[in-house]
Amino acid sequence: MAGMTDQAEDRTRDDQSGLDLGAELGPADPSAYTMRKPIPEPMPIDTHGPARIIAMANQKGGVGKTTTTINLGAALAEYGRRVLLVDFDPQGALSVGLGANPHNLDLSIYNVLIQNDVGVEDVLIKTNVAGLHVLPANIDLSAAEIQLVTEVAREMALARILRPVRGDYDYILIDCQPSLGLLAINALTCAHGVLIPLECEFFSLRGVALLLDTIDKVRERLNFDLELEGILATMYDSRTTHSRQVLQRVVEAFGDKVYQTVITKTVKFPESNVAGAPITSLDPASSGARNYRQLAREVIAATNERG
Ligand SMILES: Nc1ncnc2c1ncn2[C@@H]1O[C@H](COP(=O)(O)OP(=O)(O)OP(=O)(O)O)[C@@H](O)[C@H]1O
Ligand SMILES: [Mg+2]
Repeated sequence: MAGMTDQAEDRTRDDQSGLDLGAELGPADPSAYTMRKPIPEPMPIDTHGPARIIAMANQKGGVGKTTTTINLGAALAEYGRRVLLVDFDPQGALSVGLGANPHNLDLSIYNVLIQNDVGVEDVLIKTNVAGLHVLPANIDLSAAEIQLVTEVAREMALARILRPVRGDYDYILIDCQPSLGLLAINALTCAHGVLIPLECEFFSLRGVALLLDTIDKVRERLNFDLELEGILATMYDSRTTHSRQVLQRVVEAFGDKVYQTVITKTVKFPESNVAGAPITSLDPASSGARNYRQLAREVIAATNERG
């Protein structure tokens, strides 16, 4: 008899810990999990700056950092904000995604970091989106990471080069590489907020504790005011219960830090990378463009609430 009770208990435990919660899940619409309050339409502005600096960080690769930097940046610019996108990944994917060929750059962010006589304004490129500028990078940036190690205030290098232009922009978005090395620490040190893209995929929460730890350390030692800007669920596929389970868990774990906006999975994003333009320009009516416009409204609303 005792054995049967044990078995019954085991079954209950299995049911509770099992991931197959499909029957209890709500509708496929991601807003069922995230919508809390209406997102206001941004007011036009006639004066600009100083910029709020937001780092897109996650040491996990391929979660949508670069895609979010490009498309959130373009959507903020559509709302009349002046935006500087900083490519801080030696892969140069952000630069490519905006039509710049990293191999043909005479000057890149590397030169601004290493040479005192080169400033951000000497290197930045104006994109086809009005008000959207990009500070490009290429593989040279990986050398900067090594050169900076022996410098005084090596964690402050990015903050130092961005300071002179902060007044010209409303937002500066930094696209980090997938690592928690010195470049990422530089981005966290100069940022006001960290935006963490999380893929709606089973292992997405792995490694987030380490990232949050790193953010805490930077806040304690280098940048006392660093905030968690928000957690962004990306690559959401409404056809799978799996995506919904992951989204539900992310909301359970992070509560109202999770943006109400969820970025759906669509092949338009890889296509827009190849075309070298934001999805908001290439296909303004697509779900991806609408997602990032809504995210821009949320980011602007949060900035206004902070005052
Ligand atoms: N919502 C989406 N739906 C479908 N594909 C997407 C979506 N977002 C991004 N992608 C694609 O997934 C790939 C990885 O995205 P992205 O480059 O933005 O990630 P990342 O975090 O910057 O990667 P890395 O860590 O390598 O820098 C790209 O090919 C991109 O086009
Ligand atoms: Mg990237």
